[in-house]
Amino acid sequence: MRYEDSCVSEEINKYSEEHSSEEHPILQELTRQTHLRMINPRMISGKQQGLLLQILCKLKRPQNILEIGTFTAYSTIAMALALDDDAKITTIERNEENEDIILEFVEKAEQLHKIDLIIGDALEVIPELNKTWDLVFIDGDKREYEKYFDLVIDNVCTGGLIITDNVLWSGKVLIDSEIEKDEQTAAVDAFNKKVSKDSRVDSLLLPFRDGLMILVKR
Ligand SMILES: C[S@@+](CC[C@H](N)C(=O)[O-])C[C@H]1O[C@@H](n2cnc3c(N)ncnc32)[C@H](O)[C@@H]1O
Repeated sequence: MRYEDSCVSEEINKYSEEHSSEEHPILQELTRQTHLRMINPRMISGKQQGLLLQILCKLKRPQNILEIGTFTAYSTIAMALALDDDAKITTIERNEENEDIILEFVEKAEQLHKIDLIIGDALEVIPELNKTWDLVFIDGDKREYEKYFDLVIDNVCTGGLIITDNVLWSGKVLIDSEIEKDEQTAAVDAFNKKVSKDSRVDSLLLPFRDGLMILVKR
């Protein structure tokens, strides 16, 4: 994510990074390799989001996590490093070209035993998964956010978390003309409206980086 996409200034982002825990060396290396090897490296979660996911995992101690949108596995590995040894992350990635870098870094981080990588379309894969989730991290195609929510909500346990990234979409959700002309902005805005009114969850739209929607299943 570029700082331009964040809802706080570059200076505040830098200060906040400097006054947070160190990033794990494998995640630093993964960030470097993602920038060298991937076409769209700005999709990576990055240090602050990784740390937030780790803190939530340490507090919640989820046993079963579902992640939609692995990319190069930054968030997957960040969460795995914070989980109990017998916890599992099922992570779904549509782009099969990402598989090599994902497995390379999951192995380097010695987290393979916690991770079940599924290469496929989350919209087709999720209905086939017969599991209850303690934490779901939604970070796939913005246009599909509402569908992901609908597919997972019944399988999230009471007190379970659904965390969704990029819900401010570089602030475009505030601009009517963007909502009218841009499919992704419209979809993110529709998702925010839908889940914040859904009586099955408590919701907090956190203005952190590009916006994180935090939902807790009632
Ligand atoms: C923003 S990136 C994910 C970033 C990653 N979570 C991280 O922390 O670095 C979005 C990823 O979702 C994948 N994706 C988009 N739609 C998908 C779908 N329907 N099923 C599975 N993966 C999908 C894309 O190929 C892309 O790699």
